[in-house]
Amino acid sequence: MKILFIGGTGIISTACAELAAQRGLDLTLLNRAQRRNIPGTKQIVADISDVDATMNAVGNRSWDVVVDFISFHPDDLEKRLKIFRDKVRQFIFISSASAYQKPVVDYRVTESTPLVNPFWEYSRDKIACEEYLARELRENGFPATIIRPSFTYGETVIPLSFNSWERPYTVIDRMRKGLPVIIPGDGTSLWQLTHNMDFAKGLLGLLGHQGSIGHAFHITTDEVLNWNQIYEATAAAAGVDDLQVAHIASDFIVACLPDKQGELHGDKSESVVLDNAKIKRFVPDFMATRRYRDGIERSIAWYDTDPSRRLIDEDLNARMDKLIAVYQKGLQDAKQTFING
Ligand SMILES: NC(=O)c1ccc[n+]([C@@H]2O[C@H](COP(=O)([O-])OP(=O)(O)OC[C@H]3O[C@@H](n4cnc5c(N)ncnc54)[C@H](OP(=O)(O)O)[C@@H]3O)[C@@H](O)[C@H]2O)c1
Repeated sequence: MKILFIGGTGIISTACAELAAQRGLDLTLLNRAQRRNIPGTKQIVADISDVDATMNAVGNRSWDVVVDFISFHPDDLEKRLKIFRDKVRQFIFISSASAYQKPVVDYRVTESTPLVNPFWEYSRDKIACEEYLARELRENGFPATIIRPSFTYGETVIPLSFNSWERPYTVIDRMRKGLPVIIPGDGTSLWQLTHNMDFAKGLLGLLGHQGSIGHAFHITTDEVLNWNQIYEATAAAAGVDDLQVAHIASDFIVACLPDKQGELHGDKSESVVLDNAKIKRFVPDFMATRRYRDGIERSIAWYDTDPSRRLIDEDLNARMDKLIAVYQKGLQDAKQTFING
């Protein structure tokens, strides 16, 4: 089986490429070669947004499976189909579990949960991508499978509900300095944090699986934690035993920082428990085995190995300090009114 990953050196795709290489699969990665390559894989260097240049780089090669990790909008998929329409027997699109219905109606989520997210444009664009591919299958027989990862982390990610995506060590630094970290809401909403090595096992099981064409899957751990447990486990892995927390309602956060609406109301503020029965039915040996407390230890060890990795998002730090200060001021005023007044 000949496989192509568009991407292949990112957070999720690195683990998939490494596992494929370990299993001896014939895998090519198409990317701009801005990150380290994965031993045991071939490479095509191209910018996928440049259709002509990519077509030249691809030439007359074809693949059994193409996995597209980096389409975010139907326009991206339209470009992919220009390049790969007649060159692929299965096209796997990486969507997002954030597409599932928000506000949540039933916290138990299966692949047939409706796709609706009025709060996050990113999710709406992923939904539009899925609809585009469903139409392509129906009208032109284009063989697509859809995968919806939920929050998936590897060694470079500290997966918390209020952190910097680009510089995630920021919250660990705050924890270690004894500064308060923000947990949206009461920290009681339920989440599953999936290690990329577990995700990779599910994805690889779907490669070349003809029965999966036209189907959507999420692939997550079955370990369900609330955000308080997740922050506590993260602090423990960072060697912090007196975690300072500011619980702030998501409504309050979004009123102060409107750009957080998608991530919070559209995603992490809600309790969601993804049911993995479908991926287990299609890939019977799939089982996520990495517990969060073990996965996060690996991530923190990765940052601790090399100080140059410990970059801080100063802008987010300043926003956190300001948010905590206004929240505490409001709390004092409220206490004054209700208790002392
Ligand atoms: N992580 C999560 O929690 C999560 C949850 C839900 C959905 N997802 C989805 O997962 C996907 C991200 O996968 P990932 O984590 O592996 O990606 P990533 O960390 O964003 O990495 C991007 C990959 O694509 C390559 N790339 C970027 N721009 C390119 C371009 N213009 N042309 C060619 N290659 C390009 C990069 O290599 P170069 O820079 O060398 O080109 C790299 O290999 C997204 O679709 C996202 O929506 C992630």
